[in-house]
Amino acid sequence: MTLSILENSPTKDLLSKLSGLDGPGGNERLKHVVQRVVSDMFKTIEDFDITPVEFWAAMSYLTEVGQRNEFGLLAPGLGIEHFFDLRIDEQEKQAGLEGGTPRTIEGPLYLADAPMSKGEARLDDGNEQGEVLFMEGQVRDTDGKPVAGAVVDVWHANTLGGYSFFDPSQQPWNLRRRIETDAEGRYRFRSILPAGYGCPPDGPTQKLLTQLGRHGQRPAHVHFFVSAPGYRQLTTQINIAGDKFLYDDFAFATRDELIPAITRHADGTDPKIEGLNAPYSEIKFDFTLNREVASLPDTVVVREHAKAA
Ligand SMILES: [Fe+2]
Repeated sequence: MTLSILENSPTKDLLSKLSGLDGPGGNERLKHVVQRVVSDMFKTIEDFDITPVEFWAAMSYLTEVGQRNEFGLLAPGLGIEHFFDLRIDEQEKQAGLEGGTPRTIEGPLYLADAPMSKGEARLDDGNEQGEVLFMEGQVRDTDGKPVAGAVVDVWHANTLGGYSFFDPSQQPWNLRRRIETDAEGRYRFRSILPAGYGCPPDGPTQKLLTQLGRHGQRPAHVHFFVSAPGYRQLTTQINIAGDKFLYDDFAFATRDELIPAITRHADGTDPKIEGLNAPYSEIKFDFTLNREVASLPDTVVVREHAKAA
């Protein structure tokens, strides 16, 4: 027989007091959230007969997640970042908003205020012998009208799966740019094909995933924030087709509409491109933005971002 004291009045009193719900003052919403979270934890302790030793192991674990700054990996690894996407998808659908490019998670490796350029940019600093990637497209609204002056904020990993700033071996701002779309809403950039990457193998996120029988790998991808006044900011990524983890992303970010065709030019000769004599790849991808709707939650997620010194 399972021991249950959750419904007993001492436990109910305890929950009411610990969350402050028995008195005035404080933040009412937070009081209710704390009451729910602790109450759900009590229920988990009861249902699984969690011991104090197991509980304190979990506290040590969360301490390590903080010390290693891995909550930004743990949250997507546990599907929480994707769950927020699914929720706002549903809110938009219920509000009749459709036709925009699908969103997907931001991930933890954005760096604000990347160098800005108009129409086009080169993202890589030329220090790495990666396969050249040309990517271009148009930003439009859901009526098909081009959005001039939209900002395509793009960031991706290098050929070893590392991101500049977080990987100190890379030059500042390598593989990070903001590109303002031209009069026809077009953007274009030259870069190098990114590699996929995984959670640090000795870190706490991977430790948990291993206990769950899961890996911590992501397919190769390119991140974007696309924004323009009057439109809902789009947070998304495109995946590099053919990656072995394409449909097995530990962060649950892959969406079918976000896997553009990739054209590989094996001979690597293009008279239009000076100095290019190795195989290269091309991706064409258009972004469709939804107009802002005052009654819907903002799509800009305010969270702590790294700042370049
Ligand atoms: Fe990423």
